[in-house]
This record gives sequence, structure tokens and C-alpha cells, in this order.
Amino acid sequence: MSQQRLKIEVARAALEYVEDGMLLGVGTGSTVNAFIDELAASGKRLEGAVSSSEATTQRLEDIGVKVMDLNHTGDLSLYIDGADEVDPHRRLIKGGGGALTREKIIAAASRQFVCIVDESKCVKLLGEFPLPVEVIPMARAYISRQLTRLGGQPELRENFVTDNGNLVLDVRNLDLVDPLKMETEINQLPGVVTCGLFAHRRADVVLVATESGIDRLK
Ligand code: 5RP
Repeated sequence: MSQQRLKIEVARAALEYVEDGMLLGVGTGSTVNAFIDELAASGKRLEGAVSSSEATTQRLEDIGVKVMDLNHTGDLSLYIDGADEVDPHRRLIKGGGGALTREKIIAAASRQFVCIVDESKCVKLLGEFPLPVEVIPMARAYISRQLTRLGGQPELRENFVTDNGNLVLDVRNLDLVDPLKMETEINQLPGVVTCGLFAHRRADVVLVATESGIDRLK
């Protein structure tokens, strides 16, 4: 089965969690795009959605979903999003699409976070995928030095500005054996907006599309 087919299968499986009249948080990326297509085809009617990126907002509006401001919704019952890496404890690396900060805010404000991935995203230990870190532009060089001190090899994501007007450093070779500790350590550096480790607020459920069906980690 192609990777795109697996994304469609897991997107369809996530519909099971979506109820009519819900206020839904929606992530960013190609798996989420497949989810938005499946949502449109399902005929389910949401009250509205909170979007994690301008790209997702456009897609949601294209299918007639009302996109709402998190400041006006209160907490959300459900958040659906993809990931770049998932470990067996449902801890994630996210931010390959650069939407990590809004994704982390929505995940934090949601009662249930259902992560949808194909099996290529599952790892025993996080860290093969370079860890995205969103930084305030004036702190770029300072944060790069601090990330190097932590053992990483940061690289500025070229020609990329986040929806929040910031930069992204992609960091290779960090030791992520203790992702909770590393998330705390990176997030407390002045100038870091957030890092793409989702260990403190991990997924509640991970749906994994495999050649033989959908696996569920929870
Ligand atoms: C965007 C993300 C995405 O969830 C992650 O990059 C996975 O994307 P895709 O579904 O395209 O593989 O964190 O910031």
C-alpha cells in the first residue's frame, strides 16, 4: 500500500472520534489534509474548528467548516493531528510543517488528542527526525549556541518563517532518551517559543496505519 493510501486509511479511522456538533482542533500536514478530505466526505457537521495553521484554515474553510478563535471557544473536546515521530509511550516529535507552536497550544487546550500516523513514523526512541525549535528571530544565534551546548546540531530552516513570524531551527543528534527533561530544558531558553517535543502533553491515542490495518496505541 502506498504511504498516501495509509494516510487516507488512518484519516478515515479518526472519524470514529468525531461527533456532530463538536468543536474540533485540527493540526497541520499531509495526514491532516487527508483527514480534512475524509471529514468533508463523511457529511459530519461540526460546530466549528480551531486551526493550527493558515494552510489548515484555508482547507477547512474550503469544505465549509467555520474556523474559530481559541480565545472564544474554551477548551476543545478533541484534537486531531499528525506527527513526525511517535514513540511507544505516545510521545511525539512534531513541527516538520513548522506549525508546532499553535499545534502545542491546541493540544494543551484539548481534552483528547488523537494522533494519526502511518507506520513509518513509529520509532523506539525519538530523535532520528531533527527536532524543530521555533525561535524569536533576534535569539537565533544565541539559541543555536545553547542547543549546541546541549549536544545538538542546529540548522536554520532555509526560507521559512512560521505563521507567528518566527524562525525554525532543526536540531540533529540531541539525546532524547528523556524527552520530558529535554522538552523542559529547551523550552526554558529565553527566545525559544517552543520545541517540537510533545512529551509533557503527549497524545492520548495514536492511530497507526499499517499494511494489515489500523493499530491503536493508548
Ligand atoms: C506540522 C506537523 C505535522 O503533523 C507533521 O510534520 C507530520 O506531517 P505529515 O502528516 O505531512 O507527515 O507537526 O507542524
